[in-house]
Amino acid sequence: MSGPDGFEIVLDLGMQPLSDSFLPPGHDGAEYTYPLRVVRHTEHPLVRLDTVVPREKMFHDEYPYHSSTSTRMQEHFSAVADRFLRDELTGDDPFIVEIGSNDGIMLSRVADAGRRHLGVDPAGGVGDIARERGVRVRAAFFDEQCAREIRAEDGPADVVYAANTMCHIPYLDSILRGVDALLTRDGILVFEDPYLGDIVERASFDQIYDEHFHFFSATSVQHIVAPHGFELVDVERLGVHGGEVRYTVARRGARPVGHAVAELVAHEQAMDLHGRATLEGFAARVRTNATDLVRTLTDLRAEGKRIAGFGATAKSATVTNYAGIGPDLVPVIYDSTPAKQGRLSPGAHIPIAPSSEFRAPYPDYTLLFAWNHAEEIMEQEVAYRESGGRWLVYVPDVHVV
Ligand code: SAH
Ligand code: TMP
Repeated sequence: MSGPDGFEIVLDLGMQPLSDSFLPPGHDGAEYTYPLRVVRHTEHPLVRLDTVVPREKMFHDEYPYHSSTSTRMQEHFSAVADRFLRDELTGDDPFIVEIGSNDGIMLSRVADAGRRHLGVDPAGGVGDIARERGVRVRAAFFDEQCAREIRAEDGPADVVYAANTMCHIPYLDSILRGVDALLTRDGILVFEDPYLGDIVERASFDQIYDEHFHFFSATSVQHIVAPHGFELVDVERLGVHGGEVRYTVARRGARPVGHAVAELVAHEQAMDLHGRATLEGFAARVRTNATDLVRTLTDLRAEGKRIAGFGATAKSATVTNYAGIGPDLVPVIYDSTPAKQGRLSPGAHIPIAPSSEFRAPYPDYTLLFAWNHAEEIMEQEVAYRESGGRWLVYVPDVHVV
């Protein structure tokens, strides 16, 4: 199958709705849909989606994802901020810019420490929350133009950081030109995103949705940054969000390149991460996984078991709409985000209820869409398992916990 220039399709997940577009109850109008397909470049180490959804459709004032709903992620980002404060923001009046600062989960710590910072995020609702936490926010899409304006107003940045945002941005060349314009000579660009190696190993196909445009690896990041005079100087594997990598990028020659880079590149070569056969094998596992999940849910329903979902994640849009899971199989999804509660999930139209309503009499089986937060949620909801309830997880395969 062919894709955009130089790319070939490796996985077709069909027409999909916007993953974060939760609908008002009773909605019966048409939803925006787009073809969700993963493509690989036939010559370069690049794996991405083939269709660009206009950015304003995804990221707007009602963007419902609030980073700080997870305590674990708050701890994670506080540690990130502390490291920057200790190692990078040490000179005379240092300055850090975050792309995709959301509700200020990372920068609020920098603000508390009194360091100069700027969050850039087009989503007004979460931006207001960040401002209430003392974070300076610019409501904009970061790109070359925006970066040049920041440079003119605030001067150069020592660090440009982005978490779970760089992979959302198709126009990376503009971003990197902007970073080039903004960074000091010795400054660094640090970003962390879901790792293609983990997605392939765990068959975590729900990491594939409109907002996740690029599936990065150490090899692909080297390839993407090199034409802009940058190089990858460090990588760290992270356990959050089901397996991520934090990439540190500097101007070529400005910083020593750590051993971890060559090690991760070698790992990717050993598994032929970008190869057609590897990715087709992944696609085959995804199809099996989706079929198994529907069969399991159908069997449980036939046995008269009560089923629910937990975590109305953007990821769950891909699972429900690709596998064909609607309210007949999963009648409700519990979620702690006020902006999602009382609404219907995109495409599948499963009602979202507050997680405070997840209590006795409990469902028999609960499909954990937020499997990346499994530890935190299972700890919080320990009474559920104690009362005999069971979690159903579909990564890396369908199993009961
Ligand atoms: N960094 C947070 C938020 C991730 S969600 C975390 O890791 O939890 C992605 C965020 O990126 C959203 O808030 C979205 O509005 C923002 N975003 C998307 N494109 C952007 C761009 N070009 N510039 C700045 N922010 C962007
Ligand atoms: P994410 O996987 O994209 O971070 O989304 C997680 C979703 O799960 C988000 O909608 C919030 C929800 N959630 C809960 O309902 N309870 C929790 O304890 C956690 C951590 C997340």
